Amino acid sequence: MSNVAVLDLGGGRAELRLPPGALPVLTDLRAVVADAFTAPDLHCLAAYVAVDSWAERRLLHETGFARDGVLRDWLPGPDGRRADAWVGTVLRDDPLEPPHPWPEVPELEAGGLLLRPWRDADVPRIVEGCADAESQHWLGQMPAAYTSDAARAWLQDSAERVAEGTAMNWAVVDPGDPDGPDLALGSVGWFDLTADVDCEVGYWTHPDARGRGVARRATEAVVAHAFGTLGVRRVRAFAAVDNVASRRVIEACGFELYGIERLGAWVRDGHVDMALYDRMGSPATTA
Ligand SMILES: CC(C)(COP(=O)(O)OP(=O)(O)OC[C@H]1O[C@@H](n2cnc3c(N)ncnc32)[C@H](O)[C@@H]1OP(=O)(O)O)[C@@H](O)C(=O)NCCC(=O)NCCS
Repeated sequence: MSNVAVLDLGGGRAELRLPPGALPVLTDLRAVVADAFTAPDLHCLAAYVAVDSWAERRLLHETGFARDGVLRDWLPGPDGRRADAWVGTVLRDDPLEPPHPWPEVPELEAGGLLLRPWRDADVPRIVEGCADAESQHWLGQMPAAYTSDAARAWLQDSAERVAEGTAMNWAVVDPGDPDGPDLALGSVGWFDLTADVDCEVGYWTHPDARGRGVARRATEAVVAHAFGTLGVRRVRAFAAVDNVASRRVIEACGFELYGIERLGAWVRDGHVDMALYDRMGSPATTA
């Protein structure tokens, strides 16, 4: 039926191994898992796949495996290097159904701009946007030597957070851009979510795209998404007190200043005071 292997590890534990190459179909994999649990003493079935093997991770998720974490350097690679492993498990009484819907990054309209999921092909634009002196100064937690590897690590981390449901980032593009309708102009996203309560928004724009309302329109679209689809009642936005451009974006998006946190912002040179803003949803959503 399929080349999926189930290895008995003893003590009520077993490991499921997917075949390299072509993946089994969902119904076959579910049948293998159900069959494994016909062994009366099996309690926990685990599967380990490379963290960036999103097709395998999604298949296991659809089969009912819950994400348990990431094991560093767990999987031996053909070139002698090791890869981090995503580990998921199914317990005997778990339903063979996805533990929650698989989160996807939706496309959003943003005042004539489009917010779309990031892609590997965007890496050069991410490097240019994040290696820029303004970005490097104000986003002091970014790697200082911003390379393609840093951009790929950021994409992987972003995808991980989407899968966890803890954050979401979009690439901003302008379908009417003469330089290309799919050219990434910047990044916008939400993070630090307290479900049903609040989240924070953040952004940067490519230096070539600044001063044409990209950050403002993109942020407005994410705020609307946060109040609507995500269902929070409050959105937060923070900027170093001297980051005039970012504060202007925040204020243009209707946020209100509610305080200054001393030494709350981490810029390249160290910690500086941070301006704290928030915006509430409509009365219907804040009730
Ligand atoms: C902050 C940043 C995202 C602004 O992006 P942008 O796309 O140029 O911003 P917008 O064009 O949407 O401008 C929105 C508003 O800010 C104003 N603005 C933008 N840059 C400005 C600047 N350098 N000085 C003063 N005002 C500025 C615009 O005039 C506009 O005001 P308006 O609505 O009254 O017309 C961009 O400068 C950037 O990436 N900076 C480095 C990274 C960063 O600081 N990120 C935020 C960390 S909190």
